[in-house]
Amino acid sequence: TSDQLLKIIFEYTAKIASETQLNRVLVLMANMGREMILSDRCAVWLIDETRSELYTTVAHGVSEIRVPYGTGIVGTAVDTGESIIIKDAYNDPRHNADNDRKTGYHTKSIITVPFRNNDGEIIGAYQAVNKLTEIGYFTERDLELLTLAASYAGKSLESVMLHQEIVDTQREIIRAMGEIGEIRSKETGNHVKRVAEYSYVLALGLGLDASEAEVLRTVSPMHDIGKVAIPDAVLNKPGKLTDEEYEIIKSHTRIGHQLLKGSKRKLLSAAAIVAEQHHEKWNGQGYPNGLSGDDIHIYGRITAVADVFDALSAERVYKAAWPLEKIEALFREERGRHFDPDVVDVFFRELPKLLEIRSRLTDLD
Ligand code: C2E
Ligand code: SIN
Ligand code: SIN
Ligand code: FE
Ligand code: FE
Repeated sequence: TSDQLLKIIFEYTAKIASETQLNRVLVLMANMGREMILSDRCAVWLIDETRSELYTTVAHGVSEIRVPYGTGIVGTAVDTGESIIIKDAYNDPRHNADNDRKTGYHTKSIITVPFRNNDGEIIGAYQAVNKLTEIGYFTERDLELLTLAASYAGKSLESVMLHQEIVDTQREIIRAMGEIGEIRSKETGNHVKRVAEYSYVLALGLGLDASEAEVLRTVSPMHDIGKVAIPDAVLNKPGKLTDEEYEIIKSHTRIGHQLLKGSKRKLLSAAAIVAEQHHEKWNGQGYPNGLSGDDIHIYGRITAVADVFDALSAERVYKAAWPLEKIEALFREERGRHFDPDVVDVFFRELPKLLEIRSRLTDLD
């Protein structure tokens, strides 16, 4: 009845609208379609542009299916923008029986409805299989209903896909950039990973909330990304740097900031802060801007401690690894000079955890 139908629509559209996980939205859409038109199964097909394929991840009863553009029933519907109703799939040359063969399922009736984003471009299709009522096939009424479901759900789907893409893109960029930093200086291969973990422990110890600590863990590995622009001869020089060479190296903070700034995205702008501020000092004697105290972002103050702890712990082309007592002495000495005193206090409190990370992520040559 139309009451039940409205109930289904209200229930599902409310759930779909408040969902930010792409896979959850697809499952909800498939369930909504199935219930609205009383089909046995329902799938939501999406477009994979990079592979020129259509794919469905949450078809009821089957795992991922992929078909090349323009092929099959769904390919035809997406190409032409027209819905397709089929009474018996095995009488239709476009039907691909591979999946039935694989799964032992018998496809009979099919209805396929393409759906569009807010700009009217086709972004996928609804496909329901096997009508459950006695007549056994889908009707014009089913077409109307599934089209309605598609128009409700298509809009939410698009915004979820955009959100997902933004998050994925940021993660990928950050991971790729962190790896570039690692490749540059092989002898400190795990440096960026250790700094990430140290920063995380220090952030939690300082009382930052878990999501902020997680942001810092993701972005602190990028603190030295600006070193990609520093010539090898300087960066990997075995001995002491001349003043001029040191000035060149110091530019890695500005360069890193240049690379990352200007983004409104949360992760990238946090990464830009860390790249720029990790060599600032609490007493204002650091670089590149000579900021002091609270003017240095907390992410910068934390990464400074994590970075120096790691630099001193490890052997570098220009120095031997320091024994722990000497490192501790430096942090006591520089508390309130180079480093935020609160961060140093947390450093000493959390030292056992930091040492555990250090030995777990040790450089195996
Ligand atoms: P890095 O090796 O990651 O070192 C990061 C920071 O750890 C340094 O920032 C410094 O604050 C601290 N640190 C590292 N080694 C020592 C040390 O032997 N004594 C003390 N007191 N602190 C140390 P800084 O000085 O701004 O250096 C930035 C980057 O410049 C370094 O990153 C490294 O890539 C490069 N660098 C610095 N000095 C030399 C050098 O003498 N030779 C070469 N080849 N590179 C250097
Ligand atoms: C398709 O629409 O091409 C796949 C589903 C089927 O043919 O049964
Ligand atoms: C890095 O591994 O990106 C930093 C290398 C270094 O600090 O010398
Ligand atoms: Fe640095
Ligand atoms: Fe570093």
